[in-house]
Amino acid sequence: MAASSYTKNILCIGAGYVGGPTMAMIAARCPQYKVTVVDINAERIAAWQSDKLPIFEPGLLNVVKEARGRNLFFTTEMEQNIHDADIIFVSVNTPTKTFGEGAGKTADLQHWEKTARQILKASESDKIIVEKSTLPVKTAQAMERILNSNDKGIVFDVLSNPEFLAEGTAMADLANPDRVLIGSRTNERGIKARQEVVDIYANWIPRERILTSDVWSSELSKLVANAFLAQRISSINAISALCEKTDADVAEVARAVGRDSRIGPKFLNASVGFGGSCFQKDILNLVYICESYGLTEVADYWENVVKINDYQRRRFVGTIRRVLFNTLVGKRIALFGAAFKADTSDTRESPALYVAEQLLEERAAVVLCDPQALANAKHDLARYAERIEFEPDPYRAAQGAHAIALLTEWSQFKVLDYARIFDSMEKPAFVFDGRNILDHQALYEIGFNVYPIGKPKLSHFA
Ligand code: NAD
Ligand code: UGA
Repeated sequence: MAASSYTKNILCIGAGYVGGPTMAMIAARCPQYKVTVVDINAERIAAWQSDKLPIFEPGLLNVVKEARGRNLFFTTEMEQNIHDADIIFVSVNTPTKTFGEGAGKTADLQHWEKTARQILKASESDKIIVEKSTLPVKTAQAMERILNSNDKGIVFDVLSNPEFLAEGTAMADLANPDRVLIGSRTNERGIKARQEVVDIYANWIPRERILTSDVWSSELSKLVANAFLAQRISSINAISALCEKTDADVAEVARAVGRDSRIGPKFLNASVGFGGSCFQKDILNLVYICESYGLTEVADYWENVVKINDYQRRRFVGTIRRVLFNTLVGKRIALFGAAFKADTSDTRESPALYVAEQLLEERAAVVLCDPQALANAKHDLARYAERIEFEPDPYRAAQGAHAIALLTEWSQFKVLDYARIFDSMEKPAFVFDGRNILDHQALYEIGFNVYPIGKPKLSHFA
């Protein structure tokens, strides 16, 4: 398609886990639009232009290949692309602030504001700006104020279109989402701008799944959706601690509870704790907003979701320490999994890294094994480089180990030859299953002492 025959110029600023897959899907489903993804990170852009994409996401490469060079482009050239765009999605990172007022809670908006100023500088015509990043309520208003303070006579409409994809299933989530949410001002201008974005998604998503709202409700809905999902995990993880004390089985409890159609079965898998770049960040953000409006009880309520997650991770390491005779010094412990969940290379806030660090603090000899995430883990744990081994082969990782701790639910780890692994380990040999995915009875029969989450242990000791 020649450049002039595109019906819309869409730009996305930020080529990360959200910007890349989302724009690839829009480009693949809408060949009539030109979709450009721009980032300040030249290395990342070069990877998007190659067949070795900067993120591992099942199915992503095929979708990228379908559109790349046709109507999907990755570039570091910011100004001209901003200038040419009709609609600009902004999906830059919004991590938790680490300094000053609100440190450890509120979102760090520096990338976001920089982007607003870049847009302002390069624009010479009216534009629709779409918040794809997850942001505190009322950020759209702040952005609109910055953008519309221009003296060029240009008007910007700022919309909120939060992203609900989960890593590992991003392509399926984008192809067939439960809902798309688009928030705008409710005046005539806002509704017209919102319709432009509705029209993009309506190319492949049934209209009844495209929800529209005012912009503040849209911004808040994103934080609340993540808070509710994380709350379910903390709820079942809290119950897992009680199960371990009472010999109940948390999987049985989850099954019985989840069969109530009002509760539902999803997100009730007890684990070593939730990770990922967003759950903790978004809840802390919600907490900060509540605090800043004086809603202390509401803030405390949500903060406890994060506190239970910390507790669950600490509890898991505590079990390892206690069971391995209260000393880990010099003991080789193989950690199966570094990614924060299966089917991603992302290690941000991964419970596996937390466990690795705690074990290293106890002076254990840690070996980290993961099929996709070792490069990121190496980077994250660089300060322990001398004391940690990174080993992609689980058999080699477990060789001579006192214990295995399973931390990411990769399907590969379910089908290993555990009898072979047992033979190569120090005795007594232990498995701590932080995801409850292994066959515990079979492991016990091989000779392992098995410690699941929220289930009775299977121990050869009296
Ligand atoms: P990311 O860190 O993977 O990507 C962000 C990208 O933005 C980086 O490549 C960075 O170089 C780029 N960037 C930063 N400032 C820039 C600037 N001024 N100009 C151009 N590029 C710039 O982050 P992500 O995981 O894609 O998350 C982005 C946003 O989406 C966050 O607000 C996050 O909360 C939200 N979100 C993430 C997920 C997820 O699964 N990762 C899902 C839903 C929503
Ligand atoms: C989550 C949400 O599911 C997405 O809807 C949202 O868009 C995204 O955050 C975001 O805003 O970034 P993601 O973090 O990619 O997606 O992955 P999830 O599948 O939600 O898993 C998060 C963590 O919870 C993982 O560590 C996972 O292992 C853990 N988890 C999940 C459990 O411990 N138990 C469960 O039952 C489910």
